[in-house]
Amino acid sequence: MLALGIETSCDETSAGIVDADGNVLANVVATQVDVHARYGGIVPEVASRQHVLDIRTVVQSALEKADTDWDGISAIAVTYGPGLAGSLIVGVNMAKGISASTGIPLVGVNHLDGHIYAAWARIAGASSDDSDMLDEVLRSGRGVMCLLVSGGHTELVLMRGDNDFELVGETRDDAAGEAFDKAARVLGLRYPGGPEIQRIADTVDSSDVEPLSRAWMRGTNDFSFSGIKTAVLNRARSEGIYPPPDGGIPAEKVASLARAFQDSVVDVLVTKTLAAADQYGCGAIVVAGGVAANRPLREAFRSQSPLPVVIPPISLCTDNGAMIAMSGMRRFAGGRRDGWGLDVEPGLRIGSAKPGY
Ligand code: KG4
Ligand code: ZN
Repeated sequence: MLALGIETSCDETSAGIVDADGNVLANVVATQVDVHARYGGIVPEVASRQHVLDIRTVVQSALEKADTDWDGISAIAVTYGPGLAGSLIVGVNMAKGISASTGIPLVGVNHLDGHIYAAWARIAGASSDDSDMLDEVLRSGRGVMCLLVSGGHTELVLMRGDNDFELVGETRDDAAGEAFDKAARVLGLRYPGGPEIQRIADTVDSSDVEPLSRAWMRGTNDFSFSGIKTAVLNRARSEGIYPPPDGGIPAEKVASLARAFQDSVVDVLVTKTLAAADQYGCGAIVVAGGVAANRPLREAFRSQSPLPVVIPPISLCTDNGAMIAMSGMRRFAGGRRDGWGLDVEPGLRIGSAKPGY
């Protein structure tokens, strides 16, 4: 039994295939990063048109990579939200078209569930014990605390069972990835900002850097990242980094500020996630979404958490079809099917579908 997952919510056109055990047989991603880089961010109409151009080839090559044809596929999973409406429509219509012509059942997937289920996917070379351990924790009734950190979301999600998600904390303003992207812009770094900030921050040591403040939002499981964004802008102004000076941006100052920014964001994300896991008596932690690709964040979780932490390999952290296939496989196994009425839901939230539905 195989599930195909189609993902077009933002700026990656992707298709992945997993088997019933969650083994990833294919994960093809056509990224639009270069198309949008010159605008410094994603242009929705450009994104949806690029999906139209890429989707067929991407799905076809996923089938080839997995060495299967339509007869081998049991479910067509597709992201129906949240995301950009015009981008989501391309994937949903592709999935409906395939389902209509082949008779394979259609399963709508929440993109955010998909990011979390990436932790269950087994990719060649990665530990295959993680998904068994997570299922065992859920069976024991202890719950898994999931930190979802991407360009559009920063959320703490309590998972109590398969497809059973409850939002317990979220950002009140910017998402963590958005803060990385905006800070990078101030520092004269390319889009997307996360990998650029990580690369340049690596060139300096925390102990040589003047720290930036942390927004703890005490007494809540919520986050706030707009203050740190302003703090970066203010220090960049006072240090002559922004607006970019005629003689070129002073590289050392940029590296120090990038490091101080990253240290602050990582510290808050790790500390608050561990506190929430403790508060709800969880048995494990999952860190998911594009920002989970950040190496210092991964290292901080692994070194500071008293609980087992599962962080998907980087190729499954940023938007991809395999995570949608994985989530779709679990929904399909739980009896979920969608009809032709499946529409895109750009503002879809996590925990909005009942378990098993
Ligand atoms: O999950 P994702 O691919 O797309 C959304 O659903 O938003 O996340 C993209 C975000 C961007 O903001 C990007 O800057 C950030 O993930 N990101 C990183 C890293 N790699 C990607 N942030 C920090 N460090 C990284 N290494
Ligand atoms: Zn995403």
